[in-house]
Amino acid sequence: QVAAATGHTVVLVDQSDEILKKSTKGIEESLKRVTKKKFADKPEAGAEFVEKTLKNITTSTDAVAVVHSTDLVIEAIVENQEIKNELFKRLDKFAPEHTIFTSNTSSLQITQLANSTTRQDRFGGLHFFNPVPVMKLVEVIKTPMTSQKTYESLMDFSKAVGKSPVSCKDTPGFIVNRLLVPYMMEAVRLFERGDASKEDIDVAMKLGAGYPMGPFELLDYVGLDTSKYIIDGWHALEPNNPLFAPSPLLNKLVEEKKLGKKTGEGFYKYK
Ligand code: 3HC
Repeated sequence: QVAAATGHTVVLVDQSDEILKKSTKGIEESLKRVTKKKFADKPEAGAEFVEKTLKNITTSTDAVAVVHSTDLVIEAIVENQEIKNELFKRLDKFAPEHTIFTSNTSSLQITQLANSTTRQDRFGGLHFFNPVPVMKLVEVIKTPMTSQKTYESLMDFSKAVGKSPVSCKDTPGFIVNRLLVPYMMEAVRLFERGDASKEDIDVAMKLGAGYPMGPFELLDYVGLDTSKYIIDGWHALEPNNPLFAPSPLLNKLVEEKKLGKKTGEGFYKYK
């Protein structure tokens, strides 16, 4: 959405036409929200902006067919190392020489993903934040193998889509999640111990620290499955780090398919 809105030609790839239809509808709704603010007193210009942006997006279920004519790949599939590696390995065979590969992973090592390809110098991380149309930040991740040229292209692209990039080495959680995820997990542990209610913890962080959402609201917003993938991955890397300890309550909610806002229930109910 943000790439298309800034004049880039985008192909959105997913597993089925049904998912793609849902995604396109979501983008259209989000564009209308952005437009309502951006073109508050010029509704016609707003409608034109939505139409023009949507024209920049086509969809496909065949990543290999699309990658032939792609300059930049931004992967945002399930947080699973093997599945991501398999996809990158396949795309690497068919992508042009100059194509840069990136991952929007929240928790996996970019270096390990890059190693599934033969283009480690043209591989980096581009980590966006929910909701992407609103949050200004992009973390640009440079592995020891990412070339300076690739890094500069990724910084330029981030600016070209209207974001403010920051750089970080390929370290677990990069900057934001390394601070944010342990904070959210500490909130869950505070609640699990019965020290405070989740409602009070959320109010406390909003009114006491000026955060726009409390930790439980944010967990539901990010997705409890995503949060669990992140913490499980880090726990496997550093089993003795108490900040990375899994939470029985989070695990239980994920097992019950209560994944947050997207499924209608997580720590809170949204139906
Ligand atoms: N698309 C387009 N515009 C949107 C939007 C979306 N999905 N969501 C919000 N907006 C815009 C709209 O202009 C909206 O106005 P509207 O309601 O008139 O359409 C405006 O933002 C304000 O939104 P709301 O009135 O709904 O609510 P808020 O003022 O509370 O803002 C928020 C919503 C921006 C989500 C704010 O609560 C916030 O900043 N929350 C924290 C988000 C955060 O921490 N994100 C990082 C998560 S970590 C992550 O993503 C990393 C990953 O790896 C896990």
